[in-house]
Amino acid sequence: MRIIRADNYEEMSKKAADIVKSQVILKPDCVLGLATGDTPLGMYSELINMYENKEVDFSDVTIFNLDEYCKLNRENAQSYFYYMNHNFFKYINVKKKNTHIPNGNAKDIDEECRDYERQIKNKGGIDLQVLGIGANGHIGFNEPAINFEAETHLVKLDEMTIEANSRFFNSIAEVPTSAISMGIKTIMQSRMLILLANGEAKVDAIFKTAKGKINPKVPASIIQLHPNATIIVEKYAAKLL
Ligand code: F6R
Repeated sequence: MRIIRADNYEEMSKKAADIVKSQVILKPDCVLGLATGDTPLGMYSELINMYENKEVDFSDVTIFNLDEYCKLNRENAQSYFYYMNHNFFKYINVKKKNTHIPNGNAKDIDEECRDYERQIKNKGGIDLQVLGIGANGHIGFNEPAINFEAETHLVKLDEMTIEANSRFFNSIAEVPTSAISMGIKTIMQSRMLILLANGEAKVDAIFKTAKGKINPKVPASIIQLHPNATIIVEKYAAKLL
């Protein structure tokens, strides 16, 4: 596992965007796996700038997002569908039909999960997966004590995650308690992983991910076994490394 250190959030975001840009230049019809949350917002801004400066073209790129809340309208500003459209997709030339986010309102959630996996496989798998990390070590919504063999599946959100994500909602009672998430197996099958982390809240999770024992209690620790994984970490989150 490689560790790239950055002095600040902007540098972390720029380095991550440079890697995504290189992937798209190397393989214009590549498949990207993307994340939501605060961490990758700077990377999306950088990529939008690069697109506007004609440094990168997303017209043949396919995107699969990691996760989506259940029972939240897609038009709700807290849905990941809304987040991706408003923070990234609407500013670049990715084709709508090539963007994929699990449907947390599907009638048959299990079938939705199986279909998501099928769609990823039909596209030849994910070339580059971008990850954030929860303070509890989750990646996607794979919460502590996850089964490492899981593919895309329905998850019950951890109390710590509900608490962390309540900052985006009017009250904690509004935070969805379940979600659809790519599983660890899906994530590990990506040909390349980059995990971004910034801020003191991630110190412990990053230390355990990079230096701790591989342990389902710290889901991100599994990426130690990935042949092409890179952590891009800003100095506050890297304090214990
Ligand atoms: C989001 C996701 C989550 C976040 C994680 C960190 O799609 O999969 O694992 O990456 O919760 O969130 P932030 O970046 O808001 O600290």
